[in-house]
Amino acid sequence: MSHTVTVDRWVLSSGASSFTSTFKFYFPAKFARTRHFGGTPIRASATSNASNESVTCNSLLCGRRALLSMTALSLVMPCDRVNNSFDAIAADESLRLREEIRKVLSKGKAAGVLRLVFHDAGTFEIDEKIGGMNGSIVLELDRPENKGLKKSVKILEKAKSQIDVVQPVPWADLIALAGAEAVSLCGGPSIPVQLGRIDSLVPDPEGKLPEESLDATSLKQCFERKGFSTQELVALSGAHTLGSKGFGSPVVFDNAYFKILMEKPWLSSAGMTSMVGLPSDRALVEDVECVRWISKYAEDQSLFFEDFKNAYTKLVDTGATWKK
Ligand code: HEM
Repeated sequence: MSHTVTVDRWVLSSGASSFTSTFKFYFPAKFARTRHFGGTPIRASATSNASNESVTCNSLLCGRRALLSMTALSLVMPCDRVNNSFDAIAADESLRLREEIRKVLSKGKAAGVLRLVFHDAGTFEIDEKIGGMNGSIVLELDRPENKGLKKSVKILEKAKSQIDVVQPVPWADLIALAGAEAVSLCGGPSIPVQLGRIDSLVPDPEGKLPEESLDATSLKQCFERKGFSTQELVALSGAHTLGSKGFGSPVVFDNAYFKILMEKPWLSSAGMTSMVGLPSDRALVEDVECVRWISKYAEDQSLFFEDFKNAYTKLVDTGATWKK
């Protein structure tokens, strides 16, 4: 009897060439950098030539069963087929997590969940090799800079308790995926998120997140210490299009943040317009290098979406420790 694995694929751009058939199985981590999870259904089927039977798993049912069968298949299949199998498992697991997240997420909760991502990942410092997307935010909720984030963690806890029954998920993966879901739920780009992070057991050092009182030079330096360019600082700051700081609808992810920054409404003394934005948002538009990007994103929403997607991916991968 021979086995084949059929995978309805959508985007699988990596050759995953580093994979071999001798392996330990962990949920897929570093080998699939550019893969897109989400969107099209996956069908993983093991067929026997003799009987032509086909078993089709849906994303909720596949989980562990698929894992076991894929591991067995790896013993009899060529390497590239094994890679396909792992692609299918990775996509399957990602879909399952996204489904559970969608059950607890709403547009009104999206801003808080996206902010949670930055407060977990944004502690990273290249030189000190500390912080990053490691789930430690759940241990840091009493810090002043994390005020208001307890409720976002509570929301995700509901999803986590459902997911953990089948296969425990690290906070770092859950938060990274939930932020991506929050963005797409509000009309932003669809962002693939790789799984396989390891949670930290201890809190990250304090004082690593940028303060809202920083000027543009200090914001740029702060992001540079984390490995992010000025362009990435500007693109990521576009996350403030969500929430109630006056950048268009609080539940729509679009380029209103940049359009409104260009108008500088706070210079007007008329009513609420003087309340728009954080000091750090206003500081960006006073910097020549930042303004170049702000005006590009104000004119071209799809460019903002593409750059945000890439910067977000970098943010949630930065400083993460991965299962091998
Ligand atoms: C550039 C440096 C940044 C500073 C100084 C900053 C600071 C802040 C502050 C002070 C708030 C208001 C919190 C409140 O309402 O009490 C806020 C909100 C928010 N931040 Fe940032 N942030 C920065 C970058 C980012 C990044 C990179 C992201 C995500 C990629 C992000 C996502 C958000 C979101 C979505 C909100 C709205 C939260 C809500 O309304 O519930 N921020 N930020």
